[in-house]
Amino acid sequence: MKRGCFLTLEGGEGVGKTTNLAFIDDFLRRRGIEVVVTREPGGVPVAEKLRELILDETGLLPEAELLLIFAGRVHHVRDKILPALERGQWVVSDRFVDASYAYQGGGRGLSWRRIEYLEDWLVAGCRPDLTFLFDAPVEIGLGRARARGDINRFEEETVAFLERVRQAYLERWRREPGRICRIDASRPLAEVQEAIAARLSRLVETWRK
Ligand code: TMP
Repeated sequence: MKRGCFLTLEGGEGVGKTTNLAFIDDFLRRRGIEVVVTREPGGVPVAEKLRELILDETGLLPEAELLLIFAGRVHHVRDKILPALERGQWVVSDRFVDASYAYQGGGRGLSWRRIEYLEDWLVAGCRPDLTFLFDAPVEIGLGRARARGDINRFEEETVAFLERVRQAYLERWRREPGRICRIDASRPLAEVQEAIAARLSRLVETWRK
């Protein structure tokens, strides 16, 4: 059985991840690929419980926040992502490890070295094959997130925090331009989805060979 591909969606607040996740799911299913859609923080019951804590608890220390995220992630990876990939399914996750570098690293100021240590220890063997980074100026995304309502702790952060998150994501992209595909999320949706479809078609073709 050929191992499935692991895709992740990343970006700041209000950049259209949810809409494009549905588009990607549909795109792959139409091509006969079995897809498991998931998210972080969360994805499995214990990690969903931790998600509530992570998104709602005020006053969490950055270190505690990072460790809670990785506590959920280790279950997510071992209980759901790796088994699905082994079964030949594709996994599409709304956020993954890059978000920790962006939010806890860039946003909260924790060193990337510590995050790398956790990643090497807990998530080895589970690198995304392809990551879509939805990138847009902070004000645009924040406006959309606020219009949607139901604001979480991260969406309440200052523009400066979210700007650091954006810059950290862009740094990840500059370091790994082969894996991370940056999408200009301020463009009209039809153009965004055209860019996604083009990149996905290439991946499906390579996978089938
Ligand atoms: P979302 O489901 O709206 O994307 O919200 C999840 C929030 O969790 C988002 O604001 C970013 C945050 N987050 C981190 O801070 N670090 C992480 O590693 C992950 C996966 C998410």
